[in-house]
Amino acid sequence: MSESWKIGVNKFLQDKESIMRNGNIFQLSNGYMGYRGTLDEFGPEELVGVTLAGIFDKVGDAWREPVNAPNGAYTKLSLNGKEFGVLDSEIIRHSQSLALSNALFERNTFYRTTQNRLHTKSIRFLSASIPNLMVVEYSFSVEKDTRITVRTGIDFNIWDLNGPHLTKLKADKQETALTVAGITHESGKELVVAERIDFNEGEEIHVVENRQNLRIISLDAKGGKTYTFHKYITVVKTGDPDVSKVRSTALQITDHALKRGYDACLADHTEQWKEKWNACDVIIEGDEESQLALRYSIFQLLMAAPVKNSGNSIPARALSGQVYKGAIFWDTEMFMLPFFLYTCPEVGAELLRYRINTLDGARRKAKTEGIGYRGAFYAWESQETGDDACTYFNIGDPTTGRDLRTYFRDKQIHISGDVALAMWEYFRLTGDDSLLRNGGAEVILECARFYYSYAYFKKDKNRYELLDVTGPDEYHERVNNNIFTNKIAQVTFEVALDTVHYLKEQYPDELAALLKKISIEDEIALFEDIKEKLYVPQPDAETGIIEQFDAYFKLEDIPVGEVKKRKIHPDEYMGAGQGVAVPTQVIKQADVIMMLNLFGEQYSQEIKKANWEYYEPRTEHGSSLSYCAYALVAADIGKTDWAYKYFLQTAKLDLEAKYKVWVGTIFMGGSHPGANGGAWMAAIRGFAGLKADAEKININPNLYKKWNALSFDIFHRQDRFSVRITADKVMVKASGSNKKDHLLNIRGKEYICAPGKEVEVNYHSVNSNKPYIYDQ
Ligand code: IFM
Repeated sequence: MSESWKIGVNKFLQDKESIMRNGNIFQLSNGYMGYRGTLDEFGPEELVGVTLAGIFDKVGDAWREPVNAPNGAYTKLSLNGKEFGVLDSEIIRHSQSLALSNALFERNTFYRTTQNRLHTKSIRFLSASIPNLMVVEYSFSVEKDTRITVRTGIDFNIWDLNGPHLTKLKADKQETALTVAGITHESGKELVVAERIDFNEGEEIHVVENRQNLRIISLDAKGGKTYTFHKYITVVKTGDPDVSKVRSTALQITDHALKRGYDACLADHTEQWKEKWNACDVIIEGDEESQLALRYSIFQLLMAAPVKNSGNSIPARALSGQVYKGAIFWDTEMFMLPFFLYTCPEVGAELLRYRINTLDGARRKAKTEGIGYRGAFYAWESQETGDDACTYFNIGDPTTGRDLRTYFRDKQIHISGDVALAMWEYFRLTGDDSLLRNGGAEVILECARFYYSYAYFKKDKNRYELLDVTGPDEYHERVNNNIFTNKIAQVTFEVALDTVHYLKEQYPDELAALLKKISIEDEIALFEDIKEKLYVPQPDAETGIIEQFDAYFKLEDIPVGEVKKRKIHPDEYMGAGQGVAVPTQVIKQADVIMMLNLFGEQYSQEIKKANWEYYEPRTEHGSSLSYCAYALVAADIGKTDWAYKYFLQTAKLDLEAKYKVWVGTIFMGGSHPGANGGAWMAAIRGFAGLKADAEKININPNLYKKWNALSFDIFHRQDRFSVRITADKVMVKASGSNKKDHLLNIRGKEYICAPGKEVEVNYHSVNSNKPYIYDQ
């Protein structure tokens, strides 16, 4: 297997920090559950986590968070009564790896005892074809004959940040299956973990001790012989699609998997992964480092994609644990969705269905937040109902131990526009109006209505303004006329009007019914008015710089490093009321630049360049979402060295896991699918310069000099294309099964690409080292 399809380490590092970071790097997920990259013998101390999608629980006053399941993959061996594991034994060699081709985790550990040697190996995967299923192959061998005891089963010592979430935990053995069942604390949902194995050696007894439901299998192991067994583990819970009886379904799935056997289960799983990669891989020639980092990022997105018809979305930390309350943020629509829209639009539709399903939560929030608004104010941190999980005091101050008032929840109003734009983008890029007709149009209109009710009409200036908001830069809260927010709101009105126009033309009866249902007809004219009169800060006539919000330029202009020196505690948060960045121009993350990334075609290259150069040195990148925005705009303006630097920062974020783990007193470990999506965007929208709209695919490459070629597939308007870009050629091949001709715009010239045909355009990249031949 090529280097860029596998990651691994050849050493075991005992310290807690490394165990936690490797737990993130080597995690698995199949959209239903995540399993951290921990080892078979680990427990809650080492942060073993089986985090489930779409099920949340709240205990007392603690944060509501996703439920972690009991760990059915637990196994630990003893030799002549002495237990073996990486934490308490002499290790000769240890390695662990993750195959990106089919999400297979493997560990190999060789131990030494005074008289013997032991090798344990395990391979695990979370089935991509049966979402409730996890499978482990466990093998061991000893050098000399010895008595071995295998303790394997379900560990229900569960690692929770704010648990325990499962009550009435009950461990059983039913025929050959071990089970642990529990009921969620808050809403009484049932959850069952079942485990079966296929080991026919030794004698087995069943014990429940120390919150572990175990088989203890003792055997006289022969030196040199390898013993192997398989564990088939299922997790099933109330609310899973097509599940009426949780316990019997869990038992049935394990039984079925056991009968089918390891090889067949693995083959089904691998087949699914083949299909995923077939649609989504991106090949970078000439740069192994970028290739691996980008592939790993794509891998994370593919693992995080929600199960079909689950109604789930992707949380900001995917299923890598309970961090950020397992909540869905704008990260999904603004940073992950583009990848799915271009490569597997059906997943994009699933993500958007989640927003349709949580519209009522957004309506409740609008009514109850601040002075009370109309329409849909989406949750800043959204869980299964769409009510906001974000607290008003969302960050702990390490110096005082007090919680800081943050205005993420009540002032980051751009979230509604992020959702509305995403809904429209799905329609634009796929041409599929089914979402719009089934709740999507309602979402868009309700978001526009929210902005209208939030906006303030300034009579003397004859314009609407958005006052008291927080933009993406969370270090500056409660500001007026943040450019990102105002622009998103303005485009929301445009999209709302376009939606009405489209439905009027295509489905007038449906439109009439919708306008009546939400009594919005009279407001449509108001949307026209505000679209024209909403104040959107413009570039300064002389410098071209757009002021991030009113009076931003009056703040202290000081380098990021100097502001950081003012911190009293290393984990101190730089925003909120007293934060050191608040009185300065130092920003947490891309804000103006994020706006230019979304709406870059409306601004000249000079304006983009001036703003990039102004804001880049003032950005702390205190959010993982920041790097990609700088990479994208840098590529657009031809600063490809900078684009590359920021591309690598976003693409390597989870692979290296060197990110900050504490924000204030809050634990933040876990993956960053927003940054993973940002890596894909930086490669495709940035370096390949590919941006599609409803009419055509536009390609304007800004290839990095080290990249000999960039190849990938995309979907556009339900047809498929293979794209290959080199320093002097753009090649686009339409799939033979495409249904129509498509318009391509390559470096400003238009071409028609018929089904099965290829368009090849020669050009000369400004970044190329090769001699200029000719331009077409
Ligand atoms: O959504 C982001 C936000 O922009 C910055 N803080 C972290 C959130 C989750 O990734």
